[in-house]
Amino acid sequence: MKQGQATATQRLDYQAPAFWIDSVELTFDLDPAKTRVLNKMRLRRNPDVAPQPLRLDGEELNLARVLVGGAGTSFKIEGDQLVLENLPEGNEPFELEIFTTCAPNKNTQLSGLYVSGDTFFTQCEAQGFRRITYFLDRPDVMASYQVLLRADKAQYPVLLSNGNLVESGDLPDGRHFARWQDPHKKPSYLFALVAGKLVAREQQITSRAGHKHLLQVWVRPGDLGKTEHAMNSLMAAIAWDETRFGLSLDLERFMIVATSDFNMGAMENKGLNIFNTKYVLATEATATDADFANIESVVGHEYFHNWTGDRVTCRDWFQLSLKEGLTVFRDQEFSQDMAGSPSARAVKRIEDVRVLRTAQFPEDAGPMAHPVRPDSYVEINNFYTVTIYEKGAEVVRMQHNLVGRDGFANGMKLYFERHDGHAVTCDDFVQAIADANPASPLAQHLGAFKRWYSQAGTPRVHAQGQYDAAAQTYTLTLTQSCPATPGQPDKQPFVIPVALGLLGQDGRALALQLEGEDAAAGHERTLVLHEARQTYTFTHVAEAPVPSLLRGFSAPVILECDYSDAELLTLLAHDGDAFNRWEAGQRLALRIALAAIASDAPVAQAAVLPPAFVAAMRDVLRHPQLDAAFKELVLTLPSETYLAEQLQTVDPQRVHEVREALRAQLARELHADWAWAWEQHHASGAYRPDAASSGRRALAGLALAMLCLDARTSGDTLWPGKTYQRFKTAANMTDRLAALGALVGAGHALAQPALERFHQLFKDDALVIDKWFALQAGRVDRGGDVLPSVKALMKHPDFNLKNPNRARSLVFSYCSANPGAFHRSDAAGYVFWADQVLALDAFNPQVAARLARALDRWSRLAEPWRSAAREAIARIAAKADLSNDVREVVTRALA
Ligand code: PHE
Ligand code: ZN
Repeated sequence: MKQGQATATQRLDYQAPAFWIDSVELTFDLDPAKTRVLNKMRLRRNPDVAPQPLRLDGEELNLARVLVGGAGTSFKIEGDQLVLENLPEGNEPFELEIFTTCAPNKNTQLSGLYVSGDTFFTQCEAQGFRRITYFLDRPDVMASYQVLLRADKAQYPVLLSNGNLVESGDLPDGRHFARWQDPHKKPSYLFALVAGKLVAREQQITSRAGHKHLLQVWVRPGDLGKTEHAMNSLMAAIAWDETRFGLSLDLERFMIVATSDFNMGAMENKGLNIFNTKYVLATEATATDADFANIESVVGHEYFHNWTGDRVTCRDWFQLSLKEGLTVFRDQEFSQDMAGSPSARAVKRIEDVRVLRTAQFPEDAGPMAHPVRPDSYVEINNFYTVTIYEKGAEVVRMQHNLVGRDGFANGMKLYFERHDGHAVTCDDFVQAIADANPASPLAQHLGAFKRWYSQAGTPRVHAQGQYDAAAQTYTLTLTQSCPATPGQPDKQPFVIPVALGLLGQDGRALALQLEGEDAAAGHERTLVLHEARQTYTFTHVAEAPVPSLLRGFSAPVILECDYSDAELLTLLAHDGDAFNRWEAGQRLALRIALAAIASDAPVAQAAVLPPAFVAAMRDVLRHPQLDAAFKELVLTLPSETYLAEQLQTVDPQRVHEVREALRAQLARELHADWAWAWEQHHASGAYRPDAASSGRRALAGLALAMLCLDARTSGDTLWPGKTYQRFKTAANMTDRLAALGALVGAGHALAQPALERFHQLFKDDALVIDKWFALQAGRVDRGGDVLPSVKALMKHPDFNLKNPNRARSLVFSYCSANPGAFHRSDAAGYVFWADQVLALDAFNPQVAARLARALDRWSRLAEPWRSAAREAIARIAAKADLSNDVREVVTRALA
């Protein structure tokens, strides 16, 4: 393991490489214990850089031989670098050959070349290629690759790499070979190979431009029946990128391969995407609606990287959001377009914003806060964050909204015209969008807009409205500020698009006319806040309006507005913007929950929710026009994490207790309505994963959970019985898991037999067993009963910490997704967490460092949690041989 050299890399230290690598020929003799790699490169000096030695990166490699122009040469090993000083002078290309070996079966980090099951896989982003051979392992060095794979034919019948298969055949001793040639230049992080016993679902397609392509989804032989949805998603993604952005597939063959051992979701290697099985395999019997939606979105995401990432890549890793923020924006738009109806699009938008606010806002307020384009890192793997991905996507979305849909398409066109085949920066992207739209507010405020890339922290926007009945004007004053973040005490104003509408007291949309305008222009518009404080006056306003601000969540900010309860109820009942309609309900719930948390009064069994709120929720639930998916979102209370984020000092048990009390009250007082909702929305019949039917299942599932929860106190046995029946006879995994979750969530006696039966039914399906672990680790805590069962599950024969999916399903579900159970006053949750971080760090630092983030927000905890958390973090930090990954996270947490 790499350790002890935790030096930070600085963005401003960037220097162009001293050498270019024009082409690479790699020859692999694959063997799990000892794989031989011959790397033959053509290099030349970069004439723009002063002559200097060649320094190649390498990690955990055994070096056998180095030849320059076919002859032996002198070299040095300095740390993790191979240094060559006596290279030909001048700018002529020369040939360098390096022979190394590595041990894939000892590679537990799953970075570089590793073995999963009996199959070889690679993972090279960000810096895994150097674990395969010595190289200029940086994204701005783009080379042509030719790859020769050799292996035992019986054990590794399938040999894959990037690009086109140019030759294959048999060799002596039962071995065989395949030669692959990638027609496109690429950085080393996009290299991939796969070798093993795999089978493929194949599909021939013809693009709009009339070109033929072969699509393949490669899986283990038993999994072929679970690949239809992934293939459909791939075909949909290809068609979408052609229609929406005019971007076509640039390869004859495009492959997806699934592996059950993967640190992340999936990887966009050129023409050979490697996926976590979780984002490939699905049948209605084994995967939920959420799984189907995730597969569509991740398959789309990786495919879209083919242009935004592979054709145009990052100059250095500080520019990571150049490809990730943009590609997340693209996959979000793809999913919205696939969802279809305006209301289904809004549901997707709400889900995305929920992720941003429950995961990214806390990150931006915590010790790991960093700009979308960071300035420094110790371990780049720690910067694959919700800030780079989700906030980065919001920053692209703001650009899209500021220049309009067509303007953005033109900007993308210009971006590819300028930068295709190059490694560029976030600045280059914004510049292209702005240059294609010179009259847009983006171009007008470009310098200030770029602060979204350089300044960390979530801006706060305060809105203050003033109605003047005599003058018939409504004056809106917007002020912005942004809290200090590590290394950035003071912030400059951001450019914040605020989409808004005004509602009359009866809820209808008012026409909008700003002072100085001749006539009203529509019912919605976007104000561009670019100073610390700006005032806008609307004229011809006949009544005191209710402002609907930040529609569609038009900027990633915290909006503060002193709404009255009555105004929020008006927005909840009438806002034409579905996002803000949902948001109004969340604000009401938040307000009630925060008051109860602050009050210290006992909440169990008490009626905390006022009748008006319960009635409003009933109106939404029973609404004849609203979609089921939207209702499910409105009827779901803000999460414990989101509630905690609103507090200066957090008593996690109080937050848990209050939220549970509110849930119980909603279950009790809407009992008849939940029963109605279940009867109306639960369905049998053919399964389809589309937005409308999955929305119905989501609402029916919530209803069942609420009915079982209420049965807990009422003593009702009817609904738990019905739920158990549903669990047994469900025709799909969504309904089955919802029923199981309802029983487990209510802590009903039927939960145990149901869990046993579920395990029995699905014991051979790893992804379903992951759900089984996750459900138990994530269930509602009652008197500290979750941790003992998590500890017992750690000893279950199916548990294996080395498999990232399994570790996530049990350990992460408990430590990072179940605050009520994790934040125990006896600190046992934190002790368990520290033990698991250390255990993971011994073999997989990337996964360990993610778990290490679970206590990021420790400094805001009330006592005794605060001291206990600090102690647990300090215990990890005190370990001498920590990885750089975990060291960076705990050092920042304690700073
Ligand atoms: N680049 C991948 C994606 O976003 C994520 C990833 C990063 C996967 C690093 C593996 C390792 O699609
Ligand atoms: Zn990505």
